[in-house]
Amino acid sequence: MDGPQLSASLLTLLALSFFSEVNSASFKLLNKCRYQVWPGILSGANSAPLSPTGFALKPGKSRTLSVPISWSGRIWARTLCTEYSPGNFSCVTADCGSGKIECAGGGAKPPATLAEFTLNGADGLDFYDVSLVDGYNLPMLVVPRGGTRGGCSPTGCLVDLNGKCPRALRVREGGWGSVACRSACEAFGDPQFCCSEGYATPDTCQPSAYSLFFKHACPRSYSYAYDDKTSTYTCASADYVIIFCPLPYTSLKVLGARKDGAALPLVNKTMMYF
Ligand SMILES: *[C@@H]1O[C@H](CO)[C@@H](O)[C@H](O)[C@H]1NC(C)=O
Ligand SMILES: *[C@@H]1O[C@H](CO)[C@@H](O)[C@H](O)[C@H]1NC(C)=O
Repeated sequence: MDGPQLSASLLTLLALSFFSEVNSASFKLLNKCRYQVWPGILSGANSAPLSPTGFALKPGKSRTLSVPISWSGRIWARTLCTEYSPGNFSCVTADCGSGKIECAGGGAKPPATLAEFTLNGADGLDFYDVSLVDGYNLPMLVVPRGGTRGGCSPTGCLVDLNGKCPRALRVREGGWGSVACRSACEAFGDPQFCCSEGYATPDTCQPSAYSLFFKHACPRSYSYAYDDKTSTYTCASADYVIIFCPLPYTSLKVLGARKDGAALPLVNKTMMYF
């Protein structure tokens, strides 16, 4: 009885090892900002946690994390952080409320640009997006590498929107000036902007002048809750590079060489000098 069972599980193991889709992935987080950032990572409720959940990343530096199979969660970058004393660490943008460098289960306080992932989802595909639904604090680019199926298009928001943020959404911080740009939902709490209450379906929740500000500047980013069609990308068996403050021109040159079937451009050329 044991014999056949053992061979069956061995066969399963062998079969699994042929499908690289079940292999774990890696995320390379790269800081191209001229300032230090503190990436934060929140794993989904049914997902194994990533380690670490937060760390400091100096300008020009990168750190590669190994990501468990079928991981889902979000990644962002905190800015203007200070450790006043042990257990009293906080950031001006995207703070995760832990009081420490590690976020330990805390999410980003809006506004924050978010990279969202569901790995090995439907049909073995990874689903990823860069979301401005919770506002914006810095430019971010997600580039899949080595994917075997799916569009595998890079996505993100390459434009610095803090200075251009509509006045009603702007977050100013003392001597730092404009440090982030709020979503209309967060700024006004209106169900029309939040896609809540009577507006909680894709048909009833329409883009607003505010969400279009984000969408025009960053066409591939999620600009409001039902912006799925042009904002969610897929790729199988990829590793991902997540770049904070990518240089728009360099990025376009590098990415220009790649085949890319995405419907919308990564950068709105009419707003290149915006
Ligand atoms: C952290 O330190 C700052 C500066 O000393 C202080 O204003 C703040 O109240 C402290 N916060 C906590 C939670 O201890
Ligand atoms: C580019 O920006 C212009 C001006 O805001 C806008 O009318 C246009 O729809 C944008 N294009 C894309 C692809 O978002």
